[in-house]
Amino acid sequence: MAQAASPRPARRVPFGAAMQAEHLGDARYRALFRAHCDLVLPMNELKFGLVHPEPERFDFAPADAVLDLARAEGQDARGHAVIWWNEVPPWLAAVTEPGAAERALRQHVETVVGRYAGRLASWDVVNEVVAHEAPPDAPLRDTVWLRALGPRHIPLAFAAVATADPQAKLVLNDYDLEFEGDRYDRRRATVLEIVRQLQEAGLRIDAVGIQGHLYAEKRIDIPALAAFGAALRRLGIALMVTELDVIDWRIPGGAAAQDAAAARIVGDFLEGVFAAGRPAAVIAWGLTDRYSWVDDAMPHADGTPSRPLPFDADYRPKPWFDLIERRL
Ligand code: XIL
Repeated sequence: MAQAASPRPARRVPFGAAMQAEHLGDARYRALFRAHCDLVLPMNELKFGLVHPEPERFDFAPADAVLDLARAEGQDARGHAVIWWNEVPPWLAAVTEPGAAERALRQHVETVVGRYAGRLASWDVVNEVVAHEAPPDAPLRDTVWLRALGPRHIPLAFAAVATADPQAKLVLNDYDLEFEGDRYDRRRATVLEIVRQLQEAGLRIDAVGIQGHLYAEKRIDIPALAAFGAALRRLGIALMVTELDVIDWRIPGGAAAQDAAAARIVGDFLEGVFAAGRPAAVIAWGLTDRYSWVDDAMPHADGTPSRPLPFDADYRPKPWFDLIERRL
């Protein structure tokens, strides 16, 4: 039987979004992903605490629901995330001994990354490993992994994922890499330093994921972002936008003002990202404002609903999606 033509427009840069298994019963949600996404990833379903809640128990059903649908729709998929400071299960949080931590990491990677080997185009191997303020004397975030293993948990994770899925691109993913200011300069420098150290150790890393959780009232440092992308390119590393959305908690004036502010900052962000060449992909952290993490994590003080995503709560495209359509 001839393969059905893709319902999606031809793009030079793939567009994708994080999908949540819990919303798959919503047919309009599924249709939105089908119509617009070249690439899909499970938003939470592959995080350590959800997929590996007990030492010998794994729960793959929610991730499979997302990944099986993506496969049926002919979409690429990716994995998020092996190492993260958050959503660590209690059993792992209690691990302090280096040997036990290393065994836990290896068992997790062999089982979870191994299970999907060959099916995922990329994996976020480490997520948010840079300390929030990135002080020069302690640039890495204090996590269960850092406490048990020290900085070597980073090369250990990259090596283990490369072995478990040799085809998947290996990504170092982090946030706050696009704004103006010393803290952001330090964060960009720390990411570059981690990449260099991995390469010096002879390990493979393919891309840096820039999450792109933007704030409507913060300024993008377009030249710094361009320089960051260029420095990565010189190291042979691609840039990938992995979690794009716009936190608009201080934008007054209602929906039109929120959407205009969001389009402005997404436009600046894309300009900085594309300055060093086309990114490997642009991925939004969800598609519709109906389901976003922003109102849970960072709500407007006055209860105004956030409008962080490219489609509104009634699944209509917003101004920042037009930018995506034009740029990609
Ligand atoms: C968020 C999800 O969107 C929420 O549903 C969940 O409750 C918490 O995590 N950076 C990341 C993502 O790397 O994994 C986070 O996702 C958002 C910030």
